[in-house]
Amino acid sequence: MKVQVCIIGGGPSGLLLSQLLHLKGIDNVVLERQSRQYVLARIRAGVLEHGFAALMREAQCGERMDREGEIHDGFLIAHDGVMDRVDLHTYSGGSSVVVYGQTELTRDLYEARDKLGGKVIHNVEDVALHDLKSDAPYVTYRDGDQINRIDCDYVIGADGFHGVSRKAIPKDVLREYERVYPFGWLGVLSRTKPVSPELIYAKHERGFALCSLRSQVLSRYYIQVPLEDKAEDWSDEAFWAELKARLPEEVAAKLVTGPSIEKSIAPLRSFVAEPMRWGRLFLAGDAAHIVPPTGARGLNSAASDIYYLYHALLDHYQNGDEAGLDGYSAKALARVWKAQRFSWWMTTMLHRFPGNLPYEDKLQQTELDYLFSSDKALSSLAENYVGLPF
Ligand code: APR
Ligand code: PHB
Repeated sequence: MKVQVCIIGGGPSGLLLSQLLHLKGIDNVVLERQSRQYVLARIRAGVLEHGFAALMREAQCGERMDREGEIHDGFLIAHDGVMDRVDLHTYSGGSSVVVYGQTELTRDLYEARDKLGGKVIHNVEDVALHDLKSDAPYVTYRDGDQINRIDCDYVIGADGFHGVSRKAIPKDVLREYERVYPFGWLGVLSRTKPVSPELIYAKHERGFALCSLRSQVLSRYYIQVPLEDKAEDWSDEAFWAELKARLPEEVAAKLVTGPSIEKSIAPLRSFVAEPMRWGRLFLAGDAAHIVPPTGARGLNSAASDIYYLYHALLDHYQNGDEAGLDGYSAKALARVWKAQRFSWWMTTMLHRFPGNLPYEDKLQQTELDYLFSSDKALSSLAENYVGLPF
C-alpha cells in the first residue's frame, strides 16, 4: 500500500489527525494494535479545552459532543475546611471547558472515519518503522503470517506511551525527562447522579479526591492511593467510605453511592521526550508526553500536537511550505512544557506527599490561600485550565 501519511495508533490523536487530513484530501492510513472494542472499552479523562472542542467540530465530529457534552464555566476546590470556586468564565475572559468522556469522543472519531471510508487497520502486530531519515520511509506490520508494507511520505507516531514509534528514535538523539509520583489514583465509574454539577477537587490530609462526571446519570470519582495498592483489594464500600472521609461533610452527606462499573488504579507520571521529530517521523500525544491527570491536560496536550501537525502537513501538501514541519517539534514542545508545568503545579498543590516536611505542608496550604486571595493567581489558573492558545 502507498499513502501520503502513515499514522501509527488509533487513539484520539491518530484518529483526529486521520480525519482532519482526509477532509483535505490527504491520503492516510491508521494502524492500530488493538481491536476497536478494546480501544473503546478504555475509560479515560473527560475535560476538553474549548480549542480542542473547536478542532473536533472542524473534523466534523462535534455533533454529539455539542449535544451531550456539558459546558462547565467553573469548578470547586475543597481545602482546609472550606470550598472555593474557580470561576473559569470570569477569570479566563469568557472561556469554558466541555465535559465529555474520551471514550465517547473516540467512538465519534471512529464513526466519522467509517462514514468517510477512512482506512483504519486493527489488530496489526509487530509494527516497525524503516528508513525514517530517507525521503522514502515505510512501515511494516504483521497480519497473521503475512508481512505487509506501507510506503509513505511521513510517519506519525501516535501510538501512546508504550508504542514503538518513540523507540525508533536513536538513543543518542532522544532525551527523556521523567518524574514518577509516589502515589496513584483509584478511579470508580458508577451509574449514579453526580454529587455536584461542577467538578470538585479536594485536598485532604487523608489524600486527594476528585468528584467528576460523564453525564447527569454517570459519575466518575477518584481518590489518591499508595502505589502498592491494588484495585481489586478496594471493595466498593471501602472506596465510598474513603471518598466521603475526604470530602466536606455537606458534600459527603449528598453523595449517592452505587455499584462500580469500572474500577482501576492509574499511577501518576510526568514525562516528555525530545525532539518530537526525527527525519520523516513525527511524534504526537502520549507517544511523546504524559501528565498526571490533576489538571486534565493529557488529552488536551495531544490535541495541540495534532493541531500543529495538521497545519504543518497542510502547508506542505497545499503550498509546498516546509516551515510548519521544520518548526513542529519546537512549537509543540513549548506548549507541552506549559501543560507539564500546570499539571505538576496542580498535582503538587492538592496531593498529600508522604514524607513532606511540616514546612512544605504549610507552603502547600499557603499556595491555596494565595490562589483564592489573588485575582491574578486565579486568572493564571483559569487561562491554563481552559487551555492556552495553540
Ligand atoms: N502499533 C500500533 N498501535 C499501537 C502500538 C503499536 N506498536 N502501540 C500502541 N498502539 C495503540 C494503542 O493501542 C492505542 O490505541 O496506539 C494508541 C494510542 O492511543 P492513546 O494511548 O490513547 O494515546 P493518544 O491517542 O495520544 O491519546 C492521548 O490523552 O487523556 C490522555 O492518556 C490519555 O489516551 C489519552 C491521551
Ligand atoms: C475525569 O473526569 O476523568 C477527570 C476530570 C478532571 C481531571 C481528571 C480526570 O482533572
